[in-house]
Amino acid sequence: MELRVESGGIQEDENLGWGASLPVPSIQEILRNDSQSVPDRYIQEHKDRPQVSENLHASLDIPVLDFSLLAKGDEDERRKLDLACKEWGFFQITNHGVAKEVLHKMKTAVAAFFELPLQEKKKYAMAANDLQGYGQAYVVSEEQKLDWNDLIFLITFPTEKRNFKFWPVTSPGFKEAVDQYSTELQKVAAEIYANLSVLMGLDRDGLLKLHGELKQGMRMNYYPSCSRPDLVLGVSPHSDGSAITLLLQDDEITALQIKHEGSWVDVKPIPHSLVVNIGDTIEILSNGVYKSIEHRAITNEKKERISIATFMLPDNEQEIGPLESMVDELHRPRMYRKIKFADYARQVLARRMEGKAHTDIVKLDNN
Ligand code: OGA
Ligand code: NI
Repeated sequence: MELRVESGGIQEDENLGWGASLPVPSIQEILRNDSQSVPDRYIQEHKDRPQVSENLHASLDIPVLDFSLLAKGDEDERRKLDLACKEWGFFQITNHGVAKEVLHKMKTAVAAFFELPLQEKKKYAMAANDLQGYGQAYVVSEEQKLDWNDLIFLITFPTEKRNFKFWPVTSPGFKEAVDQYSTELQKVAAEIYANLSVLMGLDRDGLLKLHGELKQGMRMNYYPSCSRPDLVLGVSPHSDGSAITLLLQDDEITALQIKHEGSWVDVKPIPHSLVVNIGDTIEILSNGVYKSIEHRAITNEKKERISIATFMLPDNEQEIGPLESMVDELHRPRMYRKIKFADYARQVLARRMEGKAHTDIVKLDNN
């Protein structure tokens, strides 16, 4: 078996240590055979179906931040970041410095991969005991409803953790695009980490030191169009286990929705911007001050959609728990217990995502 190594080395059988997902058919492939098909396994229970219009906050927009100001140390923009993380857990960033061509190449490369015949994609299929590669995530029982989504998940940083067994290196432009895009996102993430560190009472390099290094994983999503978007979900409600997530999405299609004050709010794409959200790890580190928000994606009848979620992650061995600077026994008592990140990830992934219910694993009884 071919395994290329860039620097350092990786055991070919080294897995992520987060558990596995049951194999399910490719929804893209099902639709290649019958574009109108909506198999039972994908039809959501009534209560979970999208487009319950009375529950949709149509007029609200999530905050938009100017990344170039954050990078300059602008105090006003940092205050906006603080508010966005407290009140929304989601924001979009403009002027992030990642060239449009890099964004474009990334989307094109992912699109080209999913266009390949199934047999070709299967060469990069997830192993039975792991989550890296082409397949689906969070499938833990044969009964559960499935998401209208195929994906490929890859660890992109540190580079010595790249396992090229799962990289479709023969797909045109794939490796180069991921190389460039993931490298650019390390810089963006580092700046957001620095700002969050300061806001949480640490030095600028506080979060980075805590995580040891900037670990990065990428989930590349393919959502086919659907003849009955009222019955299915592209991705079911969940929160991300990451520290932060940076999402590159289609510039035209509105599909991502976040739970805000009890209603679903659309995240309307701003061309060439990135969507950023706080993950469970920062929620825990910030002792609940910053919110890891439930989100989902819906589908549409007209066009497939590609999105690329870049998860910034602590190391598996990292203990995560509220920072001392975020705990105040009188006004803000400790809300979470400490847990090793790998243990958290394993427990989260072992259950079907039901919104944010999985964060109960680390919640202390006092809340
Ligand atoms: C994810 C995710 C949303 C989207 O991959 O974790 O929430 O819009 N994706 O694709
Ligand atoms: Ni997500």
